[in-house]
Amino acid sequence: MYTEKVMDHFMNPRNVGEIENADGIGEVGNAKCGDIMKMYLKIENDVIVNVKFKTFGCGSAIASSSIATEMIMGKTIYEALQLTNKAVVEALNGLPAQKMHCSVLAEQAIKSALLDYANKKNIDLKGLEDFNPHADHHDHDDEAPE
Ligand code: FES
Repeated sequence: MYTEKVMDHFMNPRNVGEIENADGIGEVGNAKCGDIMKMYLKIENDVIVNVKFKTFGCGSAIASSSIATEMIMGKTIYEALQLTNKAVVEALNGLPAQKMHCSVLAEQAIKSALLDYANKKNIDLKGLEDFNPHADHHDHDDEAPE
């Protein structure tokens, strides 16, 4: 059911933890499953020089956040902003359909942390104007009915 890549990142998650004095912190949750993800970014000259995460959630959420941290490390905030949950799923070589929302959490946690940074620095991050990490997302067509 899970790819080797998912199992690898679930069993040995990369970049777990917190960053003291992080420049951007994002926290998102999924109301349905109750899982929570926190993302910490250290940013210098708009480049992500360090990233750590804490996920209180399922294995797919842990694997998604782990691989997502690898994907944005060393990237500019503008590049990180482009990271989609689809790209996360591709990097994991796939997730079961009912686990797609776990990858959405990773995308949102990063966006939420970027937004936090942008707000502190007064940067206008294009594409984030309408992003509300605490909005109730109804676009979970990919979830199995409960
Ligand atoms: Fe909710 Fe995975 S089951 S994040």
